[in-house]
Amino acid sequence: MKKTFALLLAAILMLATLTACGGGDKPADTTGGDQQTQEPANTPEETPEAPEEPAAGGNIGVCIYKFDDAFMTTYRNALEKMLKEKGFEVTVVDGNNDQAKQNEQINTFITQGVDALIINPVMTSAADTIIATVKDAGIPTVLINREPTAEQMAAYDKLVYVGCDARQSGTMQGELILDTPNKGDINGDGKVSYIMIQGDPENVDAQYRTEFSVKALTDAGMEVEELNLTRGDWDREKGQTICANDLAQFGDKIEVVFCNNDDMAIGALQAIQAANRKVNEDIYLVGVDALDAALNEVSNGNMTGTVLNDAEGQAAGAVAEMEKLLGGATYAANEQSVYVDYVKVTPDNVGDFMK
Ligand code: BGC
Repeated sequence: MKKTFALLLAAILMLATLTACGGGDKPADTTGGDQQTQEPANTPEETPEAPEEPAAGGNIGVCIYKFDDAFMTTYRNALEKMLKEKGFEVTVVDGNNDQAKQNEQINTFITQGVDALIINPVMTSAADTIIATVKDAGIPTVLINREPTAEQMAAYDKLVYVGCDARQSGTMQGELILDTPNKGDINGDGKVSYIMIQGDPENVDAQYRTEFSVKALTDAGMEVEELNLTRGDWDREKGQTICANDLAQFGDKIEVVFCNNDDMAIGALQAIQAANRKVNEDIYLVGVDALDAALNEVSNGNMTGTVLNDAEGQAAGAVAEMEKLLGGATYAANEQSVYVDYVKVTPDNVGDFMK
């Protein structure tokens, strides 16, 4: 009796397992992870008429502005993995921060007959040329990370941008400072004295983060004093050098170090520690991206906070929009930007973002 019951139980368990695995008949590489099917948070409803059946497979060329960029490394790895898991043939190339080189890479992909392109432009100012090239060749194209203007994109209806609204990340950086006990005014002199370490100023992310982080403070009625603004080109070493120079020049006057991204903030932190300053006690430090290194520092109290720049979400969005394009979708002018939300990361919620 006992044995019969045990056998019956085993049979039920086996059946349940098979059902949960969808009968186990899917090839291992098409099942994907849970996150891979995630749509960006705020895909506009109007865009575009999605095809019934997304195209399966195809050759995809991916152009990254440079491989040697901390955030774009996370992004491109996520993108490549998702594309491969969906059965696409993928070639990812390094533009080495050289627009002429990237133009050649785009032309080579076109000559090779790729089905779609995903492009992280080296220079936003080159968008017109890039768009004209892919339009001439009729290649469906997703632009990522560096957003052209709506007017530029309107030139080609098989083109879409997937990224984030950089104004949101700047505002969140300002809010991180407003959330501190003295709202960034550590010395109580009635104003927030800061230095700004900027990314590549040609890039709209750098422009908006610089503007909107400070705007959040002034909108909240704070007086601000900019001690220095220096371009650090998104680069850790430059972040360190700039911050070290500013600390030597302005010393205790610096209450807040705004960095347009985390890699520069990690560099700035090295300079802050070398100058024997203590984050969250006598200086505040914020970045953007939520790189693993920055999450660790937020958790250790060595960064005031950061802002998640959702690489996985953006990669998933780029793949989803690319599939729509491959299925024949077109985009109306002014509906060619698809945004994924940024998220504020503080010591209270940092655990949710750490892997
Ligand atoms: C990221 C930076 C990155 C840049 C590259 C930005 O959105 O925050 O870390 O260097 O994109 O274009």
